[in-house]
This record gives sequence, C-alpha cells and structure tokens, in this order.
Amino acid sequence: MKAVISDIHSNIEALSAVLDDIKGRGIREIICLGDIIGYGPNPKECIDLAREFKLTILGNHDEAALWSEQTESFNPIAHSAVEWTRGVLEDARDSFRNNKRWGFLGELQRTFSEGSSLYVHGSPRRPVREYIFPEDIANNAKMSDVFAQIDHICFIGHTHMPGVFTDDMTFKPPQEVFNKFQLNAAKTVVNVGSVGQPRDGDNRACYVVLDGAKVEWVRVQYDFEATMKKIYEVRELDNFLADRLAEGR
Ligand SMILES: [Fe+2]
Repeated sequence: MKAVISDIHSNIEALSAVLDDIKGRGIREIICLGDIIGYGPNPKECIDLAREFKLTILGNHDEAALWSEQTESFNPIAHSAVEWTRGVLEDARDSFRNNKRWGFLGELQRTFSEGSSLYVHGSPRRPVREYIFPEDIANNAKMSDVFAQIDHICFIGHTHMPGVFTDDMTFKPPQEVFNKFQLNAAKTVVNVGSVGQPRDGDNRACYVVLDGAKVEWVRVQYDFEATMKKIYEVRELDNFLADRLAEGR
C-alpha cells in the first residue's frame, strides 16, 4: 500500500491532516507528484515534511520558485505568490535550513517509473507543465497521444481535479465511482487530486491510496479557516487564494 499525494501548495494544515490520515492507515510509503509550494502560507514547513516522503516529483510551482524565468507564464496571483515564497526561502536568518530546502527542491525529478506505472506532475508529454483537464477527454488527438506515451498507468496531479481517464475516452470523477477504481489491463490516467487547494467543489484535502490494483480517493477535513487567516495576513498572497479554500474551487 502506498499513498499518492499532490499539490500541497504550502498548506500545512491540509498536509498535516492528510499525513495523519495516511499514518492512521498504517501506510508508510508516500509519493508526491509535486507543487509542494506556491499559493499558500507555509512553504518551509511543507518542504520539511516532504523531505520525509519516499519520493517527490517536480511541479511547476516548485520549478518556478527555483528558476524565476519559469514564472513568466504564471498569472499575476500565482506569480506574486511564487515571488513571496522565494523570499521566504531566501531569508538569511534561516539560511542553513533554507540551503537544505533549496537543495532538496533542486534535486526533484520530473518523472518516476515503477513497474508499468509512470508518475508525473502534469502529463506524460510535458511532465511538469502540461494540463490534462477532464474536458480534454473530448480532444481525441491530445488524449490519444497521451495514452500512446504511457505503457499502462500514469498518475498525475496539476489540475487539482481528481478522477480517472480511460482509453475509451471517458473521464470519471471519484464521486461517480464511489471513490474507488480497479485498475485493469487498459491504459489509465489517474488524477490524485490536490491536498492543499482542491478545486472540484469539495473543500476537503484529497489524495489517493493505492493498494495493488485498487485506487481509492480519500477526502480529509482540515482546519482551512486557519490557513485562510494566514493567507489574509500576507499582503503578497491574494485574498482569493484564501477564499477558494473554503469553497474548494
Ligand atoms: Fe498545483
């Protein structure tokens, strides 16, 4: 059994609640599909916990913090959050630990393969940045190409929209399959959802428990009001980043 988590986005309350839930199930192995940071108020704390995971993949916000030229495609709200995050991680008063944090971020890999499963942040075609949205299922050319690039199973995050894409060109959100999906011989793309900024209308943190061929999406309540309060207090973090946590959008 392992936990596959993604898109923590500096939300320590959500991450702590998810880690407690994972621990409560006796699961030790955690794979994170990236975006540890960006948007939220606790980048250092989230990185420090991520260093204990088995593996973390590089997300576009992690990349943007590392290399400022990568923020050019970001919208102003995300851009400002990345700049603020970089400043927190460059605070000279915490330079010893911050150097370790940068070292950790700088070594994150873009893809990870295990057996016939591929783990990426965004997509198999462009691992760090490409989005695969639920509505892409209508884009036959794109999805055929995505499926052509995987051997069997691909785990993704990035859109913060959990669900499963199958190669008969369907997408099912977790609630349509009672939060469970049995992997079979068919090529399948699983979006594990977001820990720290869910956008599917459910404000609870989301992650996946993988038990052999069984995928289960888990939702965990957390103190999002505490996170919201911290975001309101930081001028560089737009209030929208707090408001959306209450609604899960
Ligand atoms: Fe993200």
